[in-house]
Amino acid sequence: MSADPVIRTIRSADISGVVALWEEAGMAAYELSGDAADEITSKMDRDPDLFIVAEADGGVVAVVMGTWDGHRGRIKRLAVRSDLRRSGLGRRMVEELERRFVDAGIRRIRLEVWSHNEGGLAFWEDLGYRLQPEIRYFVHNLDDSDDPC
Ligand SMILES: CC(C)(COP(=O)(O)OP(=O)(O)OC[C@H]1O[C@@H](n2cnc3c(N)ncnc32)[C@H](O)[C@@H]1OP(=O)(O)O)[C@@H](O)C(=O)NCCC(=O)NCCS
Repeated sequence: MSADPVIRTIRSADISGVVALWEEAGMAAYELSGDAADEITSKMDRDPDLFIVAEADGGVVAVVMGTWDGHRGRIKRLAVRSDLRRSGLGRRMVEELERRFVDAGIRRIRLEVWSHNEGGLAFWEDLGYRLQPEIRYFVHNLDDSDDPC
């Protein structure tokens, strides 16, 4: 890896790279409820400025998805390519997304982390996010799936 990753808004040409990155990070099993490319395209239509990738040497090396429900901002599906982890790229991705949230007037952010994801938990704590152990997360899927995400 030679070039410093450039952080920018996602483009259609990034979709296959984003799917590959989520697969490498083990985030494909539950976190994509349908066809990954369709979900990405749909999300790009909704909050295009909040869907961010990092590109290096022509490939996607990090991704994060911000969402806005009219009430709170949410952060979803942050992933950094495994060989680039612990170099500060995850932090840069979140800082860029936070800047974009603030520019959009969104100042309260929520996210979920698997309880077994010790690295993820340590990452969010290091960035100043506060764990809320008293809150439980409920799911009710109005289709045939039992996908928890
Ligand atoms: C979590 C993830 C995005 C972090 O990305 P990253 O680029 O490695 O993070 P950074 O280099 O910016 O780390 C910032 C700080 O977070 C903490 N941190 C990050 N990863 C950590 C780990 N695996 N274990 C302990 N602390 C960690 C450290 O304090 C780190 O600072 P340091 O390297 O100076 O000690 C990355 O490990 C990843 O893609 N994991 C797989 C997907 C995933 O779990 N995503 C999160 C879903 S909520």
